[in-house]
Amino acid sequence: MCGIVGYIGKKRAAPVLIDGLKKLEYRGYDSAGIAVMDGDNMMVIKRCGRVAALDEVRGLSGTIGIGHTRWATHGTPSERNAHPHCYGRIAVVHNGIIENAARLRATCEARGEVFVSDTDSEVAAHIIAHYFETKNDLLLAVHCAAKEFSGSFALAVLAVGEDEIVCARRASPLIVAEGEGEGLVASDIPALAAKGRRAYVLEDGELARLTREKVQIFDADLALRLREPYILNETELSPGKGRYAHFMRKEIEEIPDAVRNSLFLPDMARNSRVCDVLCHAYYFDIVACGTAYHSGLCFACAAERLLRVPTRVHIASEYRYTDPIVPRGTLTIAVSQSGETADTLAAARLARERASSVIAVTNVARSSISRLADVTVLTGAGREVAVAATKSFQAQLATLYSLLAVLAKQKNIPFFPLENFSDLTKETIQKSECIAGWSSYFLDARSVFFLGRGADRCAAMEGSLKLKEITYLPSEGYAAGELKHGTLALVDSRTPVVAIITDPRLIDKTMNAVHEVYARGAKVFLVTCFPELCAQKEVAASVLIPACDPELSPMLSVIPLQLLAYHVALALGNDPDKPRNLAKSVTVE
Ligand code: AGP
Repeated sequence: MCGIVGYIGKKRAAPVLIDGLKKLEYRGYDSAGIAVMDGDNMMVIKRCGRVAALDEVRGLSGTIGIGHTRWATHGTPSERNAHPHCYGRIAVVHNGIIENAARLRATCEARGEVFVSDTDSEVAAHIIAHYFETKNDLLLAVHCAAKEFSGSFALAVLAVGEDEIVCARRASPLIVAEGEGEGLVASDIPALAAKGRRAYVLEDGELARLTREKVQIFDADLALRLREPYILNETELSPGKGRYAHFMRKEIEEIPDAVRNSLFLPDMARNSRVCDVLCHAYYFDIVACGTAYHSGLCFACAAERLLRVPTRVHIASEYRYTDPIVPRGTLTIAVSQSGETADTLAAARLARERASSVIAVTNVARSSISRLADVTVLTGAGREVAVAATKSFQAQLATLYSLLAVLAKQKNIPFFPLENFSDLTKETIQKSECIAGWSSYFLDARSVFFLGRGADRCAAMEGSLKLKEITYLPSEGYAAGELKHGTLALVDSRTPVVAIITDPRLIDKTMNAVHEVYARGAKVFLVTCFPELCAQKEVAASVLIPACDPELSPMLSVIPLQLLAYHVALALGNDPDKPRNLAKSVTVE
């Protein structure tokens, strides 16, 4: 949700900023801009669309600057609304939402100040400029201004004539780093990564001052804070696409490794804090968004059916405003690939306030969610670049199912051997190759249905989300038995249906729904582990996946659905890695 960078040092700032922004593009790609200062000359360049549009200004002189890649909240994507925003001697890049921007803007306009954009972020430039005029100190000005803002912000600020960058953070992530004779700031590590650089994650309410000599961190009262640095290494650099045309395709191929690296076998957990927290839980609450929410649904199927632990799965943005009932003995599991999703963070915080223990399941060490939770279990998906989550979904399942395996061991309940899953996912990818041939049937679809029951329904929901995200086709993941209660009215020959059947107890039941949609002219595609179903006359095409415990089957059944979305997106001419309107990390409400 917007990426920000800043650099002060010996090198030319423009290429450092532009390369940094490219590594943050997963956070937004509506428009981008940089401000570079050469002596007292501040140059501000903004472009619509991708960061690459800034490449033509890499040659700008000046060794200090800030940059931004935008995901629009206030105001349309346009050069006018792109960052940096400037007023007086101030230039600002901002990630977050300043919720009282309208009131602050009115105050500024009453002083006769003129605004040139529709953004909340331009307000930040005005308020900081106002304080800078009176305080004549950039750190003090940002400190005073930050007190006036409600909502969330990560800010990096330049002032004409000042050889420093000042940053502030509330609720939106911000990391500062120092190398030899240089200071940097960014929304995420990859934009900072270079061997040996010392990084510091800013906490809520903190500010930082970056000069050529040092990086200083201050608390909300401007007292200097001393903190151990975290030493960056090259492995934190952004991965490349390798031999693949898109990150999404590469990341699907990486699922077997992601699963292997995310398993948390009972013996590894023995006597650990995780084991302790798990074994004291009577109820599980999951809080998560999007794909992570679907991982939570899959976990709930398995937790209730296999271990009889009552489990509720909450959309984090709903949970936080529902005054949730959190019975004693509830363990809340916050699932988030990025560890920075604003709604999931708020929900986990609320669960803690209601005396629940919180386990974070996240792919990013040192992320905000892991700093908030009692215990963190890291998934081992490795960096995921494509906006549509793929390997992180299976990694989350591997970790969540591992938690259940730990509990099963405690309770002496037999559990599916999770160590088989890495090979099974590999086999599933191979068996899904034929999916590319399905895409032509989806190009003119009016809408698409994914049907299933039980765990298959959870898989259907994730398959549908994937298709929507990158093909822009309307689609729904639906409970197979519920279709006839109304939604069947939508089905006709332009409504392809994908049915998922992996549970022997539910074959006939889901096949009933298949017959119903087939009778209304729908083409039916099948993902199943039962060979006999593939030959049925209603089935236009099928993928036969390996069998596993039906409660855990989304680990495998979602793979062909991810590939389906990928191939349909390609056939429609969409960029599967950067779908319109979306960003990978949603750090605003
Ligand atoms: C998945 O394809 C989406 N891009 C999105 O739904 C994502 O899963 C959601 O925003 C949650 O993100 P998180 O896992 O980083 O918290």
